[in-house]
Amino acid sequence: MEAIEIGTSGLRASRIALGTWAIGGWMWGGTSDLDESIRAVRSAIERGITLIDTAPVYGFGRSEEIVGLALSGGLRERALIATKAGLEWQAGRVWRNSSPMRIRLEVEQSLRRLRTDYIDLYQVHWPDPLVPTQETAGALARLLNEGKIRAIGVSNFSPAQMDEFRKAAPIHSVQPPYNLFEREAESGILSYAAEHDIAVLCYGALCRGLLTGTITATTKFRGGDLRRNDPKFHQPRFAQYLAAVASLDGYARERYGLSVLALAVRWVLDQGNTVALWGARRQAQLDPVADVMGWKLDDQAKRRIEQILLEKVKDPVGPEFMAPPSRRESALAA
Ligand SMILES: NC(=O)c1ccc[n+]([C@@H]2O[C@H](COP(=O)([O-])OP(=O)(O)OC[C@H]3O[C@@H](n4cnc5c(N)ncnc54)[C@H](OP(=O)(O)O)[C@@H]3O)[C@@H](O)[C@H]2O)c1
Repeated sequence: MEAIEIGTSGLRASRIALGTWAIGGWMWGGTSDLDESIRAVRSAIERGITLIDTAPVYGFGRSEEIVGLALSGGLRERALIATKAGLEWQAGRVWRNSSPMRIRLEVEQSLRRLRTDYIDLYQVHWPDPLVPTQETAGALARLLNEGKIRAIGVSNFSPAQMDEFRKAAPIHSVQPPYNLFEREAESGILSYAAEHDIAVLCYGALCRGLLTGTITATTKFRGGDLRRNDPKFHQPRFAQYLAAVASLDGYARERYGLSVLALAVRWVLDQGNTVALWGARRQAQLDPVADVMGWKLDDQAKRRIEQILLEKVKDPVGPEFMAPPSRRESALAA
C-alpha cells in the first residue's frame, strides 16, 4: 500500500482511505447491516488501508459508532481516524454550524462514539458563511494544543477560505470532491495544496459508484439513496456518463488488463499529493484495492482518458447538489 504524509502533521496515511458515509445509511438507501459494515472496516485495515474517513452526520452518529466498534478490541492503533465537525441536524434536516461552541460539543460526542480519546484528523465539513473562519480555526487550534486531535483538515473550502483559516490554525489536509468526472479542484485547490504542503483527500473517487463499471441504465437505487437526486444519474446525462465509463473500461482492459475502477482510482492518485477516499459498505467492494497499487498512468494514457471524456460527456455537471444549506437558508426552507 502506498502512503503519504498528511501535510506537516507528522501523520502518514495510506493513499487509499475507506469512506464510511454509506455505512451510516443516511442518503444511501437506509440503515446498513451492522455486521457487514464492521467486516468492511476491518477488511480495509487488513488490506493495508490505515485512514478511515467518517463524520457525525453520516447516519446521524451511526457511521462513527460503527467505526468505533470495528476498531475497538485491538485495531485502533493501526488506524488513523478522520472525522469532521460543523454540520448540525434535527429531525433529518442538516445545516452548517462551525461555531466554536458547536465544535466543542461535537468533538466530545465523536470521541465517545468512536470509543477513543483522540481523533487523528479533524476536519471542518463545510465552510459556514455565518461564522468568521478564524473563529472556527481557533477552535480547532485549541483542540490540537489539548491533544484531542492530531491534525487539522478542511473540506469543501476554497483557496481564499483556506487562506483565512490559516491565519489562526494550520491546515494539514483539504477534502474536495475529485474524480475523473468532477474536476473543479483543478481550478485552484490542487495547486494551493501543493504550494502550502497540504494533503488532498479526494472524495467521491468512484463518483458514487459510477466509475466502478457496475452501474447500468437499469440500476435502481432504493429509498433515500442520494443518487436518485444526482443529476449525473438522470437522463440524458446518465447515458453520456455511462458511455464514458464503457469507453474508459475498454481502454483500461486493453492497455492495462484492469477495470475502469482501477483506472479511475489510479488517476486520482497520479494527480499529486492525493489520497483517494473509497466509499464501501461491504468488504468485497474493496477487492480491487490491490489493482490500484504499484503502477502509474503514463502521459499517453492520460491523454486518451481526456479524449474519451471530451467525446462522451457533452453536458458535464458537478456535485453541487450535495452541498448542505447554511443555518439561515435552512430556517427559510423550514
Ligand atoms: N467531505 C465531504 O463533503 C464528503 C462528501 C462526500 C463523500 N465524502 C467522503 O468520501 C467517501 C467516498 O465518497 P462516496 O462514498 O460519496 O462515494 P464513492 O467512493 O465515489 O462511491 C462509493 C460507492 O461506490 C460503490 N462501490 C464501491 N466499491 C465498489 C466496487 N468494488 N464495485 C462496485 N461498486 C462499488 C458503492 O455503492 P453501493 O454500495 O451502492 O454499491 C459505494 O457505496 C465517503 O464515504 C465519505 O467518507 C466526503
